[in-house]
Amino acid sequence: MPVLTNLGFKDEDVYTTLENRMKCGLGKCGRCNIGNVYVCKDGPVFTYAQIKKLPQEF
Ligand code: FES
Repeated sequence: MPVLTNLGFKDEDVYTTLENRMKCGLGKCGRCNIGNVYVCKDGPVFTYAQIKKLPQEF
């Protein structure tokens, strides 16, 4: 991500995907959450700006 930032891309313009272990895929089981964000329901596509706000769990 620093490479894109150094090239002048804003955090809101950089998109990527997250993967996490999932079970229900509906935002019900809580298996895929990072803080209060559910990768299955809220993603899996996130901007770098969104990812920077996630808790550092990994
Ligand atoms: S897979 Fe169950 S909450 Fe995301």
